[in-house]
Amino acid sequence: MTTPPMTDPALIDKSPAWQALLKHQQVLENTTLEQLFAQNPQRGQRFKASAAGLYFDYSKNLFSDETLGLLNELANQAQLSAAIEELFSGADVNNTEHRPALHTALRNPAASSGKLASALTQMRDAMNAFADRLRQGSEFGASGKVFRDVINLGIGGSDLGPRMIVAAFPELQAEGLRSHFAANVDSDVLKGILNQCQPETTLFLISSKSFSTLETLSNAGLAREWLEAAGFDNAQIACHFAAMTSQIEKAQHWGIKSERIFPMDESVGGRFSLWSSIGLPIAIALGSEAFRQLLDGASAMDRHFRSAPFSDNLPVLHGLLSIWSINFNDHHSRAVLPYIHRLGELPNYLQQLTMESLGKRVTKTGQACTYATGPVIWGSEGTNGQHSCHQLLLQGIGAVPVDFIATAKAHCQTLQHQYLLANCLAQSRALMLGKSYAQALEETRASGLDEDEAAQLAIHKAIPGNRVSNTLLLEEFTPQTLGALLAFYEHSVYVQSVIWQINAFDQWAVELGKTMSSAVLEALRQTQQDSDLDSSSKALIKHIQAHRTAPPKID
Ligand code: F6P
Repeated sequence: MTTPPMTDPALIDKSPAWQALLKHQQVLENTTLEQLFAQNPQRGQRFKASAAGLYFDYSKNLFSDETLGLLNELANQAQLSAAIEELFSGADVNNTEHRPALHTALRNPAASSGKLASALTQMRDAMNAFADRLRQGSEFGASGKVFRDVINLGIGGSDLGPRMIVAAFPELQAEGLRSHFAANVDSDVLKGILNQCQPETTLFLISSKSFSTLETLSNAGLAREWLEAAGFDNAQIACHFAAMTSQIEKAQHWGIKSERIFPMDESVGGRFSLWSSIGLPIAIALGSEAFRQLLDGASAMDRHFRSAPFSDNLPVLHGLLSIWSINFNDHHSRAVLPYIHRLGELPNYLQQLTMESLGKRVTKTGQACTYATGPVIWGSEGTNGQHSCHQLLLQGIGAVPVDFIATAKAHCQTLQHQYLLANCLAQSRALMLGKSYAQALEETRASGLDEDEAAQLAIHKAIPGNRVSNTLLLEEFTPQTLGALLAFYEHSVYVQSVIWQINAFDQWAVELGKTMSSAVLEALRQTQQDSDLDSSSKALIKHIQAHRTAPPKID
């Protein structure tokens, strides 16, 4: 497929700074992390930055002072400062949908224009008041019983952020009020939750910016059926639903009472929306005060991102070093390893934030990118990953840059927190230093093996090292520092999108899967094979139909 020729400004990889970085990388490629630390024993002290309750150690990346200077030059040639101002000033940074990206306005409404500011403040006050009423036991179902279970029906950005944050602070959950999250269309998910709940005391939150996502509406339909089976009529059912959406009329048409609809602005992207009314389950589970603290933490990071010089700017440093890893060191994935069980859902959240924002192949002006863009983001909580994926991180072919995340002040029992920290810092050291063949041979000889066996086994025990990582320490684990951490990643993603000249705020590809699934669904429901599907899909459908016990229920 050939994209139309564009006569737009040169792509960033044609810029002088990019070309200089390519040359510079060739010079630096034979330098190891160990050598860089030997050349400057204070490297760990030098290459760190702090802001908004986060300490960011980026010293274990393979760069020199010259590298940072060239990356800074690249940021200038990409007009990063202007792009940051555009984001905060409400310019249409989402150019293909002709919209701003208002997530920063959500945590600092006062900085927005009058009309928008009052709308955002009004929305937040309404959702917080509703959340607090639920927590105080002053919101009731149709039969007059207090709500005991709140089930969020949403997916992607309408699920991942709230799910992660609610899981992070179990001790803040109001007595007698439980939170649940159902995202997948697989009915086992919602069924498993409903088995724990009573219709009279259950509230459903339909969380959907578009109010048209198949999974969410399917789950909402099952929820409605569950209440109907309990004998509720439409008026009674309406008492058991609320909605967070930008599509007010669709929600009303579905049967949501107007006073239970919490609006969100079209200009808030799904993966950036936990700060909006999509965050209602957070305010319900943690309380409005904790939700305010979360936004305050993000706002503190916003102020830092907007004002700090690039050399001290945490999101800019993380974003530029990601560019250095991806485009100049050929590392196309990044592992996020939070050594905090409370943040076990963070890798999933960052997967959508990063991959749905940066998984693009054309620039904002429609030119084909002639360079790599978005990385694959994955991860697991530490120390669990040490017993699953760390073997590859340490000894596999090809390095995977790692973001380690931990708390400086204990978030759990002191001794176990020390174990977590010792393992987290040790893994970062192990990636950097590895184990030389000589060290491995010394070990195998000391184990009593004969010389040949010792020499042979040492080959398998040697670990290359020279693998890069960042370490982020939250001063303590609070809603504020978590808000700052999430805003840090939002802004690093934005920095990378600006350098690559891509739109971080649209997601046109996800539509393809939705439209194709409608055609497959149609074929699955037919008995004859007259669809124009490919032969693989047809054969699969034929095999599936051969296993069908009864014709599918057509909604
Ligand atoms: O994955 C596509 C997407 O549109 C995400 O961007 C969004 O967070 C998710 O689906 C859910 O969308 P909605 O909130 O409109 O149901």
